[in-house]
Amino acid sequence: MSATANDNHDLEHDHVGLSYADSCPDNVLLFIHGFPLNNRIWDGQLADLAGDARIIAPDLRGSGDSDDVEGPYSMAMLADDCVALLDELGIDEAIVAGHSMGGYVALELLRRHRDRVKGLILIATRAGADSDEARAGRDASAARAASEGVAPIVEGMRPKLLAEDTYEDDPELVEIVDEIMAAANVNGVVGALAAMRDRVDSTPMLAEIDVPTLVVHGAEDRLIPPSEAEAMHKAIPGSTLALIHGAGHLPQMEQEEAFNEAVAEFLEQF
Ligand code: MLT
Repeated sequence: MSATANDNHDLEHDHVGLSYADSCPDNVLLFIHGFPLNNRIWDGQLADLAGDARIIAPDLRGSGDSDDVEGPYSMAMLADDCVALLDELGIDEAIVAGHSMGGYVALELLRRHRDRVKGLILIATRAGADSDEARAGRDASAARAASEGVAPIVEGMRPKLLAEDTYEDDPELVEIVDEIMAAANVNGVVGALAAMRDRVDSTPMLAEIDVPTLVVHGAEDRLIPPSEAEAMHKAIPGSTLALIHGAGHLPQMEQEEAFNEAVAEFLEQF
């Protein structure tokens, strides 16, 4: 059973068993955001899942309130930043949840630091590397961001980021996502584009994944099609697939309740 807030624990000290309550749940969920976003995309999880797990949600280097350092970045660098954070917080292992580019980071973290990963949640992401055409696209986007700023990159992604119904029915959410993307900075965008361009193909690793894995995807994702999630689910032994209806590329925000339910259910096994 998963630990919940205020679980009672026991400690043996000086040959005396001491019982104590701890409001911090045993399981740690490390949420890694996608591109060109920041940790605000997890506000709905911080609010609702904090009793099910301790939630750590970094801003990757060059994003949000983290330092705006010059690139290029690599997936290894981003994964190691997350592990340095776990080290700093004294956390041995976490359930690593990555959204889109954050999913690429999560797979790299698993590859480099298997002993730190207790479970995996792959959200709106894919296992494959970039095609040659996609790599050229990353370079063109980076050059454009360097000369014109992040606005053209954000404008290019914006129309496809959310499900059509989300754009129509949830203007407040659309505004929040716009604000998050508007906060992106050139170093972070250029650095992350290089990391995505150079990432390795994780497909061969999928069959070897031996931690409980949840694959979550918006049924109306137009940036990364749900077929990518289905393929990862088929390849990862014992994995669970949650297709979230009424959601595009940001299921954790567009269908917060359904997303949180899928995660809470997944956490019950730990
Ligand atoms: C993301 O949402 O993190 C990116 O769009 C992923 C990508 O460009 O491959």
